[in-house]
Amino acid sequence: MPLPGGTLDICSLSLASAKSSVVAMTFLRSATLALAALLPLSSAVPTARADNGGWDAAHTKAATALAKLSLQDKVKMVTGEGWEKGPCVGTTAEISSIGYPQLCLQDGPLGIRFAKGITAFPAGVHAASTWDIDLINARGNALGTEAKAMGIHVQLGPVGGPLGKIPHGGRNWEGFSPDPYLTGVAMAETITGMQNAGVQACAKHYIGNEQELNRETMSSTIADRVNHELYLWPFADSVKANVASVMCSYNRLNGTHACESDLALNGLLKGELDFRGYVVSDWNAQHTTVGSAKAGMDMSMPGDNFGDNKYLWGTALTNAVSGGQVDQSRVDDMVKRILASWYYLGQDAGYPKVGWSSWNGGVGGPDVQGDHKIVARDIARDGIVLLKNENNALPLKKPASLAIIGNDAINNPNGPNACVDRGCDVGTLAMGWGSGAAEFPYLISPLDAIQKQATADGTTIVTSTTDGTSEGAAAAGKANTAIVFINADSGEGYITVEGQAGDRANLDPWHNGNGLVEAVANVNKNTIVVIHSVGPLILERILALPNVVAVVWAGLPGQESGNGLVDILYGSKSPNGKLPYTIAKQASDYGTSVKSGDDDFSEGLYIDYRHFDKAGIEPRYEFGFGLSYTTFEYSDLTTTYSDKTGGSTTTAPGGAEGLYDTVATVTAKITNSGTVEGAEVAQLYIGLPSSAPSTPVRQLRGFSKINLAAGESGTVTFSLRRKDLSYWDTDAQKWVTPTGDFTVSVGASSRNLALKGTM
Ligand code: NOJ
Repeated sequence: MPLPGGTLDICSLSLASAKSSVVAMTFLRSATLALAALLPLSSAVPTARADNGGWDAAHTKAATALAKLSLQDKVKMVTGEGWEKGPCVGTTAEISSIGYPQLCLQDGPLGIRFAKGITAFPAGVHAASTWDIDLINARGNALGTEAKAMGIHVQLGPVGGPLGKIPHGGRNWEGFSPDPYLTGVAMAETITGMQNAGVQACAKHYIGNEQELNRETMSSTIADRVNHELYLWPFADSVKANVASVMCSYNRLNGTHACESDLALNGLLKGELDFRGYVVSDWNAQHTTVGSAKAGMDMSMPGDNFGDNKYLWGTALTNAVSGGQVDQSRVDDMVKRILASWYYLGQDAGYPKVGWSSWNGGVGGPDVQGDHKIVARDIARDGIVLLKNENNALPLKKPASLAIIGNDAINNPNGPNACVDRGCDVGTLAMGWGSGAAEFPYLISPLDAIQKQATADGTTIVTSTTDGTSEGAAAAGKANTAIVFINADSGEGYITVEGQAGDRANLDPWHNGNGLVEAVANVNKNTIVVIHSVGPLILERILALPNVVAVVWAGLPGQESGNGLVDILYGSKSPNGKLPYTIAKQASDYGTSVKSGDDDFSEGLYIDYRHFDKAGIEPRYEFGFGLSYTTFEYSDLTTTYSDKTGGSTTTAPGGAEGLYDTVATVTAKITNSGTVEGAEVAQLYIGLPSSAPSTPVRQLRGFSKINLAAGESGTVTFSLRRKDLSYWDTDAQKWVTPTGDFTVSVGASSRNLALKGTM
C-alpha cells in the first residue's frame, strides 16, 4: 500500500521456511471477495456518524459557549451532582443558559446497567474471541444506539484496563484480551461503533487497574517502556479513534493515584496522545481538590463521595480558584473539553431526554432493543472456541438420546436477574458481576435451546440440573452422549460471591466442576464439556479423562447464550472463535498473580503468551488457538516494506501522526482444505530485529477473519503501522523502528505458524 504522497518500495523479502503444503486449492479469490466474506451475518446495519465537524470545530463551539458561563456554572459542569441524585449513575447539573442538559453518564460495557428493555450483549472478552472487527464494531454501534435512545450522553465503556495480565483478575471479562494489539483494535472498533450512534464512549479504567484486591490503595509501578507497549497501547488506539472521554482508575500509578497523576493525565494522555476530550474520575477515585485539577482530571464523579456529601470539587473548587490554588484557566479547560465532546457527538441538537431512573429498576424507560438480538447471537456463536473434538464427536448428528447435566445448563429458578448486578453464580453464566453487568431482558439457557433442537430431531433428553455428582452420573448413564456444563465467575470487588471478592481465588471451575465432569465421564464414553467462564481455567483434570471427547469454550455469551451454542453444537456454523488468552497447564505458569500489596509489574513485557514464549513453557491451549469443523492450509506469504521517511512527528489524537502510517503489508493465501464451509482467523506475529532491546520473540500485529467454502481459497492482507514495528525508547521518549531483519509469522495461532519469513 503506497504511503501518503510516496511510492511503494519493496525493500526486501526472504522467506525462511516459507510455505506450507497447499492441498485441494481450487481457485484463488481476489482480496475484494475475501473482504466481502468478512461482513457479519447480522442484519443489524451500523449507524453512520453524523458529521458535526471534527475536534477543532467542536472546541471552537465550546469556546463560544464557555464565554457565556459564570464560574459557578463551570464548577457545576465539572462536579457530579451526587450518588443517586439523578436518574443515571452519574449526572451533572443542567446549564440552561447554553442549552446544556443534565448530563447522563451510565454503565456499562456490555449493556445499559439498571435498565429494562435493553440488550444484554456478550461480554467484551467474548466479543474479542470472535476476532471479527465487523461484529465488534456492530456490537459497539448497537450499544451506542440503545444508550442514545435512552438519553444517555456518556456510556461508561469500553474497558481497556484491566488488560488482563493476571488471569485471576475479577474484571478482565469486561475488557478484551491481555494482548494490547487485540484489545487496541477492539477498543477502537467499539468506540467507533458507539460514537457513530451518537453516544460519547468512555475508555476505562486508565491505568494499571489489574486487580480488584485493594484496588483503591495499591500502586501499580509500571516501567515507562512496559506502559507504552502494553497498558497504554489500547488507550492510544482509543484516543486515535477519537474517544470522547477517559475514566481515570482507582489505583495508584507509580505511587500517585491515577486521577491525581500529572504523568498519566497531563503527560501521557493529553500531552503525548493529544487527547481532545475529558477525563472523568472513576466513582470516588478522586482524592484531592487541587491535586486532581492540576493533574488534568476534568470531571468528578459521582461528586459527593457516594452520598456522604463530601464534595472535593463543587464549592471547594470554587474556593480553590478564588484562593489562587487552581488557575481559572484550568477550570475553563475542563469545561471546554466537556463541552467539546458534547458538540463533537452532535448531542447539542435533538438528543433524547432521560425518561427512566436507575434507582427503580429502570421502570418506565423505552424499549430500545430493536433487532440487536441478531448481533448478540452472532457474537455469542462466533465467540465460542472449540478446544477439543475427538473423532468428530461434534457436530451432533440427531443423537437418539442426550443427557444434559449441570446447573450451568439452566436459568436461575429465581430469574436471570435475581442477584443485584448479577452477584451470584446460580444457573447458567452469561456475564460476570458488578457495574459491568446489565439486566437480562431474557436469557436463552443452553437446556432451553437444546431442548428445542432435540424436539425437532426426535432426541430424548435426560437431565440433571444440579451440580450433584451422583445425580449427574445417573443421568449420564441413561444416554448415548452427555453434555456437562460447568462455569467460573468473577466480578467487581464490592460484591463477594461464594467467598470471592471480585478476583478469582484459583483457576478451577466453580462448584466442583472437575468432580462433576469426572462423575459423568466415568459412566458415559461420549462426554462433551461446555464451559462458561470469565477467563482461563486449568483443564488438566478434565482433559485427563479419556471419555471427554469434546471441550467447548462458551465464554460469556450474554442473553443469546443457548441459541449461539446450539448453532455450534449442531454445526449450522463451524466454530470460528479463537482464544484471546492462553490456557495454561497450571496457574503458576502465568507468572503473575493478585498482589496483597503494591505491584511492581516485575514481569515487564512478558505477560500471557509473551511470558510462555520467553520462559519456554508449553501452554495447554495457546493464545489464538481454536478448532473448526473444517481445516485450513496457509501458503504464499508476501511481505512488502516501505518506510523511508520516519513519519510525521506532528501530534494528533493517538500520538505522532506518522506512527499510524501503513509502512508494510503482509499477505497470505488461506485455503479451506476440509469438507464444510468455515471461517479462519489468520494471525500475524512480528519479531523485532536483534538491534532492538530485549523484546518478546513474537507479538500479534495483525489478524484477519476470512470465511471460505469447502475447497475455496482467499487472500488475507495485514497492514502494519509504523508503531507496530517499533519499540518505545525510554531515553529518547519516542517510538523507534529498529533496523535489521524482522521475523514475520502467519498462522492459525501463536504457536501454529505455518508461514515464516523475514522482512
Ligand atoms: C466503579 C467502576 O469501577 C466503574 O467501571 C463504573 O463505571 C463506576 N463504578 C460507575 O458505576
